Amino acid sequence: MRVMELVRFGDADTAFATRELPRPTPGPGQVLVRVEATSVNPLDLQTRRGDYRDQVALPAVIGNDVSGVVVETGPGAGDFQTGDEVWYLAPIFAGQGTYAEFHVVDQALVARKPAALSHVEAAGLALVGVTVWEALVERAGTRVGERVLVHGGAGGVGSVAVQLAGALGAEVVTTARAKDHEFVTGLGADVAIDFSTGDYVPQVRELGGVDVVLDTVGRDTLARSPEVLADRGRVVSIVDIPEPQNLLAAWGVNATYHFLFASPGRAKLEALGRLVDRGKLRPVVGAVVPLADIAQAHTLLEGGSVEGRSRPRGKIVVAVHQ
Ligand SMILES: NC(=O)c1ccc[n+]([C@@H]2O[C@H](COP(=O)([O-])OP(=O)(O)OC[C@H]3O[C@@H](n4cnc5c(N)ncnc54)[C@H](OP(=O)(O)O)[C@@H]3O)[C@@H](O)[C@H]2O)c1
Repeated sequence: MRVMELVRFGDADTAFATRELPRPTPGPGQVLVRVEATSVNPLDLQTRRGDYRDQVALPAVIGNDVSGVVVETGPGAGDFQTGDEVWYLAPIFAGQGTYAEFHVVDQALVARKPAALSHVEAAGLALVGVTVWEALVERAGTRVGERVLVHGGAGGVGSVAVQLAGALGAEVVTTARAKDHEFVTGLGADVAIDFSTGDYVPQVRELGGVDVVLDTVGRDTLARSPEVLADRGRVVSIVDIPEPQNLLAAWGVNATYHFLFASPGRAKLEALGRLVDRGKLRPVVGAVVPLADIAQAHTLLEGGSVEGRSRPRGKIVVAVHQ
């Protein structure tokens, strides 16, 4: 099978090489999936640059999103049959990744693909969808009528978070560049704040504060969240930050902080699938790139301009068999 292998840490242009590897065989409780589409995430950029060189030995196949078709089942993997269309978040830093024509995975991590989604759309939803579900539902316990601040509403995670927060019955405030305000309000944001031209804090305070902050940007967001949080508010951070932050003000509002690293699982995918089926959630696919052009997909996500195009909104998806 053909894979795009990470052969050296560094710039996208020189990091990947096409390789032929033996097609993997599903073990007990596993299925072999023909990968129709995968996607690129900031984690992939960080891995490619060498941030996780302790966890990832070269050469390596990276990538974590899959939408595809079951082509073989291992012993005891009776939940699926050959031909089933499935989607999943593959384990992070464990086993072969998903920039590949085929991928083996434990059936417990796999769900049936929502019929309303193409493989490209499903691959653009798995990792970010699972992350947002864990953040807003499992960690923050978002309730109907609460106000949620989603940082970076035009991004891969943010564009799903805006929709899920709205589906949960929350009022949604999000930060995005002015050019993206129509886009995020189209996803259901009630208020859009331009993070690039002013400070979001006074603008959120003017609204009366928020119950939940979803931090997709890092920097000083942890330290500043108490300035916008209601009493007993919750902060969910998905971005690791190198610098310590002073959280003294968090005591003043009885804040709860959650630090989240998304984990695979079927139940979360099924919950997301139900929202998709009911028209409450749509993946946002900004660009589709063939697997052979994985370097271009990385460059697009990094913000570079390719053939005159600027960085797309939402997800950059990789079509594997194109
Ligand atoms: N812990 C986990 O399990 C987990 C899971 C998924 C993602 N993540 C992390 O979450 C972060 C976001 O991921 P993603 O896939 O959404 O990335 P993404 O698609 O690159 O989106 C990031 C968004 O944030 C916007 N942004 C940049 N600076 C901002 C600021 N100061 N305030 C508000 N928004 C700002 C960007 O806007 P412009 O493009 O216009 O600059 C972009 O729309 C990444 O660091 C990723 O590693 C963590």
